Amino acid sequence: MTTTHVTPADTDLPHWETPPDDLPAAIREVKSAIRARIEASGRTVAEVFAVVEARVAERVAEIRAARERGEDVWPVIDYADIEQGTVTPEQLEALRRRGCLVVRGHFPREQALAWDAGIVDYVEGNAFFENYRGPGDDFFGSVGSKPEIYPVYWSPAQMEARQSERMATVQSLLNAQWTHESDGVQWFDPDRDSLYPDRIRRRPPGADSNGLGAHCDPGTLDLWMTQGYQQAFRHLFDGSVEQYDPWDAAHRTSGPQYPGTTMCSAFRTFQGWTALSDMDHDQGVLHTVPIPEAMAYLMLRPLLDDVPDDDMCGVTTNQVFPASERWHPLLLEALSGIPDVRAGDSVWWHCDMIHSVAPVTDQQGWGNVMYIPAAPWCERNERYAASVREAFLSGSSPSDFPEEDYERSWPDRFAPEQLNDTGRRGLGLD
Ligand SMILES: [Fe+2]
Repeated sequence: MTTTHVTPADTDLPHWETPPDDLPAAIREVKSAIRARIEASGRTVAEVFAVVEARVAERVAEIRAARERGEDVWPVIDYADIEQGTVTPEQLEALRRRGCLVVRGHFPREQALAWDAGIVDYVEGNAFFENYRGPGDDFFGSVGSKPEIYPVYWSPAQMEARQSERMATVQSLLNAQWTHESDGVQWFDPDRDSLYPDRIRRRPPGADSNGLGAHCDPGTLDLWMTQGYQQAFRHLFDGSVEQYDPWDAAHRTSGPQYPGTTMCSAFRTFQGWTALSDMDHDQGVLHTVPIPEAMAYLMLRPLLDDVPDDDMCGVTTNQVFPASERWHPLLLEALSGIPDVRAGDSVWWHCDMIHSVAPVTDQQGWGNVMYIPAAPWCERNERYAASVREAFLSGSSPSDFPEEDYERSWPDRFAPEQLNDTGRRGLGLD
């Protein structure tokens, strides 16, 4: 890996557009430069962090109180209201405050169950389980001989959902929560999605799962070390933290991401999945820290004096960004699970937010989802769409994922002539 190390000019932080060869040295260098820049504002790093901590602590207290009153922490909006334009300002305010959402009845339940059955036919008809070679990466564990995560991207069910009118309608509403135009730049197009292809999870009744620890997905050391992110997080790095806005897309949609097994080449406003089975809230489901501003806490915490100079609170390249009891106990107090969902509901969370999957033993019922995020058209997603197009046409695994390529010879995968206008636009074919 070649390293591009750029020396700081007057206003630049040192930055590395590819992972630095000497990580500890680069961490020391960038931390000291960010500290100096914050201190140039007239406040210490500790003072600036205290502002963030107070803001986040207020939200944590509010979430704990809501939980104690027995209220749902996750906002819920009916798809019918999104379709008819009758979502209330209060509901939108809750979405922005919590950064997450359940869309009830996003698809008719029968439709979602039919998609689930269609996926079973698709993989069984193509002898997927007989040919399964084990997990292509170690990001998700698998239980027993059948995988939980199917590295399948091009089933009719997935593509029908991705290019559906209903999906586009919800994605537009979610994207519209972001400021996508500023300084004369349109950072992304809120009404055109890039159809980011991802996998399927089907977790059977009786499954035991360790779940997934609390983490976030927008990047790793690149969040501090690349110029794009330094610009995106400019208010965190120059002492003007009061102006930091987690919904500001400026400078977020061009930059590269350091490569790694858990990377996502696309810019996603929200991560999401669509439920293909009913799932109760206590059956190993998704949790988030529903505080979009917690990102400011995650980004500034490593700059405090109690963290070793060459440590970013455990963040390193090629591993998922951890949120830990050691460094982020306040944030983890707010970890809140989704309510019960039914097949056809969808679940969304702001791309920067901490999330986890709870462990479960002897799961009751299925736990089936299609991962479909909101990845609006922008420079970065247009670039990735070129490789997605190729993967789609040849039935290969998309380049963000292990090269497992199961579907290349499967005759009933979704065909190019089945694309509608949304599908063609999303793949950049029009
Ligand atoms: Fe994740």
